[in-house]
Amino acid sequence: MQYTQKVIDHFKNPHNQGEIKDADAIGQAGNPVCGDVMKIYLKVENNKIADVKFETLGCAAAIAVSSSLTDLVKGKSLDEALAVTKDQIVNYLGGLPPVKIHCSMLGVEALHEAIKEYKTKSNK
Ligand code: FES
Repeated sequence: MQYTQKVIDHFKNPHNQGEIKDADAIGQAGNPVCGDVMKIYLKVENNKIADVKFETLGCAAAIAVSSSLTDLVKGKSLDEALAVTKDQIVNYLGGLPPVKIHCSMLGVEALHEAIKEYKTKSNK
């Protein structure tokens, strides 16, 4: 299996890895194919993603996807972040091996869960 250099870079030096202790929302997604899990923490200010971090127990592709996703959505409005697709993440990484495409779903799902939690909380 061949990973692009960008996938390898993000896997070896992931951006925004860790926990946000006072996060405004947390989203989690699990991959039924492999059992891997990803958690996304959000800090939201003025409806924009002020900070985002991830914790992923998963394969190299899942870590690279998490890292790229945080780069792609930081500073974006919640609606702009919701519009980011798994294909955009895969393109950003210069592609993923076909057997690893499912790993890109985790990021989008965890992010959507976190934004959903934030919207539900802030509508109360
Ligand atoms: Fe589980 Fe990639 S093999 S997320």
